Amino acid sequence: MRLVYREMRKEDVAECIKIILTSEPWKTLRTTEKEARTSLLGGIKSGKTIVAKVDNKTVGFIVFYPKGAFPLGGYIKLIGVHKDFRGMGIGRELMKRAEKEIFNYAKNSFLLVSSFNKAAQKFYRSLGYKKVGEIPDAIMKGYSEIIMRKTLGPIKRFS
Ligand SMILES: CC(C)(COP(=O)(O)OP(=O)(O)OC[C@H]1O[C@@H](n2cnc3c(N)ncnc32)[C@H](O)[C@@H]1OP(=O)(O)O)[C@@H](O)C(=O)NCCC(=O)NCCS
Repeated sequence: MRLVYREMRKEDVAECIKIILTSEPWKTLRTTEKEARTSLLGGIKSGKTIVAKVDNKTVGFIVFYPKGAFPLGGYIKLIGVHKDFRGMGIGRELMKRAEKEIFNYAKNSFLLVSSFNKAAQKFYRSLGYKKVGEIPDAIMKGYSEIIMRKTLGPIKRFS
C-alpha cells in the first residue's frame, strides 16, 4: 500500500465529499453535498488542506486554518478518513501535519466536535485535546458543539 500525503486539489473534492456524505457526524447533521463542497473548496481557497492518497484514491482529508478563523489560535475545521482505512493511523498523521503548521503561528489549536460524536471526541482526547467549552443547540436542538483545545501553554506571562 503506497500512502502519500499532499495538498488537496480540486480533483480530490468529489472523493472527499463521498467520505463526508457516508460518515458520521455528517449523516446525522444532514450535511448536504453543496455544504460539503463549499467547506472543502473554501479550505483550498483560503485555508490549508491535506489529503491522504492510497494508489491515487483519496482515503482521508483535513481542512484547517492556521490563523484568522478562531481567536487565540488555529482552527481544525474538517477531518475525515474513509471507513475502510480507519484505525490505521491516517487521522493521527493528518492531525500531526496540520498541528505542525498551526503551532508555527500560535500556542493553541481549536476544533469543534458534535456532542453525539463520542468516537471523534475519544480520538481528539488521545491526541491531547481537552474540552474548553460548549455551544448548546448549535446545529441541532438538544445537541451541542463541544470546543476542544490543544495548547502549548499561555501566550504571555502575567506581570
Ligand atoms: C475520527 C477519524 C478522523 C479518526 O481517523 P483514524 O484514521 O481512524 O484514526 P487513527 O487510526 O489515526 O487513530 C488515532 C487514535 O485515535 C483513536 N481512535 C480513532 N478512532 C476511534 C474511534 N472510533 N473510537 C475510539 N478511538 C478512536 C485510535 O485508537 C488511535 O489511538 P492510538 O494511536 O493510541 O491507538 C475517523 O474515524 C473518521 O473519519 N471518523 C468520521 C468522521 C469524523 O468523526 N470526523 C471528525 C468530525 S469532528
